[in-house]
Amino acid sequence: MKTEAAPFRLEDYRAPAFTIDTVELDFQLAPSATRVTARLAIRPNTDEARSGRLELAGDEITLKGLKLDGAPLAQGRYTATPSLLTLHDAPNGPFTLEIETEVDPAANTKLMGLYRTTGTYCTQCEAEGFRRITYFLDRPDVLAVYTTRLEAAKADAPILLANGNPGESGDIAGTDRHFAIWHDPFPKPSYLFAMVAGDLGVITDRFTTQSGRDVELRIYCEHGKEARCTYAMDALKRSMKWDEEVFGLEYDLDIFVIVAVSDFNMGAMENKGLNVFNDKYVLADPDTATDADYANVEGVIAHEYFHNWTGNRITCRDWFQLCLKEGLTVFRDQEFSSDMRSRAVKRIADVRTLQARQFPEDGGPLAHPVRPEIYHEISNFYTPTVYEKGAEVVRMLKSVLGPDGFRKGMDLYVRRHDGDAATIEDFLASFADATGTDLGQFKLWYSQAGTPQVSAHGSYDEAARSYRLTLTQSTPATPGQSRKQPMHMPIRFGLIGPNGEDMAFDAVRGGRVEGDVIHLTEASQTLVFEGVGARPVPSLLRGFSAPVRLAIDISASDLLFQVRTDADPFNRWQAAQTLAMRNLVAGTHEQIAGRTPKAEPALIDALGSVLDNEALEPAFRAQVLQLPSEADIARELGEDVDPDAIATARRELRLAISTGLGDRLSRHYEALSGDGSFHPDAASAGRRALRNTLLDLLLARRTPAATAAALRHFETADNMTDRLAALSAMTQAALPERRAALDAFHARYADDALVLDKWLALEATAPAAETLDRVKALLKHPSYSPNNPNRVRALVGSFAGANQTQFNRKDGAGYDFLADFALDLDKRNPQTTARLLVSFRSWRALEPVRRARAEAALRRIAAAENLSPDTLDIVTRTLA
Ligand code: PHE
Ligand code: ZN
Repeated sequence: MKTEAAPFRLEDYRAPAFTIDTVELDFQLAPSATRVTARLAIRPNTDEARSGRLELAGDEITLKGLKLDGAPLAQGRYTATPSLLTLHDAPNGPFTLEIETEVDPAANTKLMGLYRTTGTYCTQCEAEGFRRITYFLDRPDVLAVYTTRLEAAKADAPILLANGNPGESGDIAGTDRHFAIWHDPFPKPSYLFAMVAGDLGVITDRFTTQSGRDVELRIYCEHGKEARCTYAMDALKRSMKWDEEVFGLEYDLDIFVIVAVSDFNMGAMENKGLNVFNDKYVLADPDTATDADYANVEGVIAHEYFHNWTGNRITCRDWFQLCLKEGLTVFRDQEFSSDMRSRAVKRIADVRTLQARQFPEDGGPLAHPVRPEIYHEISNFYTPTVYEKGAEVVRMLKSVLGPDGFRKGMDLYVRRHDGDAATIEDFLASFADATGTDLGQFKLWYSQAGTPQVSAHGSYDEAARSYRLTLTQSTPATPGQSRKQPMHMPIRFGLIGPNGEDMAFDAVRGGRVEGDVIHLTEASQTLVFEGVGARPVPSLLRGFSAPVRLAIDISASDLLFQVRTDADPFNRWQAAQTLAMRNLVAGTHEQIAGRTPKAEPALIDALGSVLDNEALEPAFRAQVLQLPSEADIARELGEDVDPDAIATARRELRLAISTGLGDRLSRHYEALSGDGSFHPDAASAGRRALRNTLLDLLLARRTPAATAAALRHFETADNMTDRLAALSAMTQAALPERRAALDAFHARYADDALVLDKWLALEATAPAAETLDRVKALLKHPSYSPNNPNRVRALVGSFAGANQTQFNRKDGAGYDFLADFALDLDKRNPQTTARLLVSFRSWRALEPVRRARAEAALRRIAAAENLSPDTLDIVTRTLA
């Protein structure tokens, strides 16, 4: 087994000894040998102690020339390797260094640095890709002004793009080449550099900012896909307006460009003025995109745009501060989507994602604080903890300070730190200073990993008309952190009275309560509410006001009451989920004991009351009717997990619910049938969501009538949402009829790789014994492509991440498959490989047979020669 290089530690941070003020780049683009000349204006950082030694990072690049202040540098004065350029005696004052390097974009399968995607040159520099283009102080606290000159064959790359505003451009006389110069006046770190060159289609628009700046907007894509960019353009304009209205933040260049590419490791990238997107987050039309795709396009467009302030104008001092830009920007995009759509439904969806992705991370071997203090490979820290929990921490900050205090803090943060590479300390100080609040305890959210457990116990004293509520918090041990301190948690709440409305109370003793927020700050606190007229049903953690697991001893009948009455829609949903989860956990235990589980009547009543309540929006009703997933149940069980027992228990419960709700399901289903015209707006999407959820529940009965309904649904669908929902319901029910439908779907979209990703994902998630063989066969299918991250994630990612029973086959074949696949992909794309392997994160919670097989697969990967640092890091931590 290979050992890892020394880790990076937050405590070791030192400001750079040199800095770079301006960067002039010249790209002579050619597919296999691109020449890059970088002219850097470097100066010693006067505040820092230094020797004359200057080290510039590189990664798999070749030095072709080096000049200092215009003169070639003598041999002995420097050393160059593919990963490091060292100047042994750098000047004591400012100087220019001209570095010529050569890179091979066509051979770059890591998709970091300069690479080719379907014939287009494109770059990805976050976090450490710029060093794959030229030698540099490739760290976020070195901010420079960039000027980029691109030169390429005109036929090959008629479009030449880089950061900033366009400057001079033209043909190169006597050749087939042309050039373009771009200048970005805003100093930025190298990770925000980008250039794109190729033959692309475009749509354009304009936006006038609140101060009257006229901004040109462009979205580039593959030729022929222009019409699928219009929704993204609309989302962009709405994002620009929203950031002005809600945060007072305005765009700052003359042009904003988005480029959609098909080979991309992540979702999208916020390069200054030139965002590069995975095309799945740009392209959308009714025939090819689901409502979820539309919502994702809107959210990711907003996210990258919002980074222009939270990330670009104010960037991170070092990569430990990643949540400074990501947590805040996720919070901002979630708020935007809440304003564009239904706030309650958005919140439920976001919490579902948090619980499905971040909770298992926080509860397993890969747990780390929102601001990590140590890392081996930064690419592995673009995690749900940094992003989604990071956003929850910002949301809590808003709950703690109130909306006005939060806005004051944001304003001060922007005013103080515009142009800076900042830290979490800077961020929190802005909020503390703007509002006069001590955030010392609150800051623990950034340093303590693990999902806190909160238990609540209430009792009502009728004679005294008082309600005592005891809240206890504890946070489990996580890697490197055995003991935790109590945190400051804003717990939103209400005391629901017998008529279903929140009751007033006269006074509270035993803790700070402001409005509807309890400030839980101690390990245990007992609050006494005086003047409470009747026994309340406590509604706690409304809106999921803190990212914790809440355990509350509440009866099924009180939960049912909450589902019917809670003024907080999130907690209505939560109450139904809690009822369902209790049934599912009990059902799984029954299943393992060989008994037949039964469904709690209160659950069916609860779901029925929401289904029939036309006053509730359809999207919300759909959310309530969707049971916790198999993975949710596994997480709730926490140990000795048997995915087959879970799947059976869940299937049985769905059958009981479907039967229990009877023909109410088909009645509502029929009533929701569309009028034939498609609109992607949230209300229409909500009706489709409810109708599709009902179809899925109907199919739980697996009756001929239900199968016929599903086939009809599939065949008559006039949009992707409905078509895919029917197909997915048939696949999840593992109906034999799915085969022909899947083939028909493939034939219909044979030329559309993005749509075929949905097909690959369905094939991979079928809960059927033949699925693994099918996945292996599909690796050789012409619609699959081994080097495209979207294809890999659709097929192998869905299998390992979303097929509980088949990935976790008892014979270990699912684990062995993933290990083999990862060992092969790691040679070409380490980042995507490392992300796939995160599917092993909960291996220790499995029952002993599967646990042993998963461990063996992990150990086999760890023992392989020449693992990438990315994969080695994930596997080492997963096994630790
Ligand atoms: N910074 C990007 C975002 O969240 C994500 C990303 C990270 C993209 C690393 C590429 C590489 O907006
Ligand atoms: Zn981001």
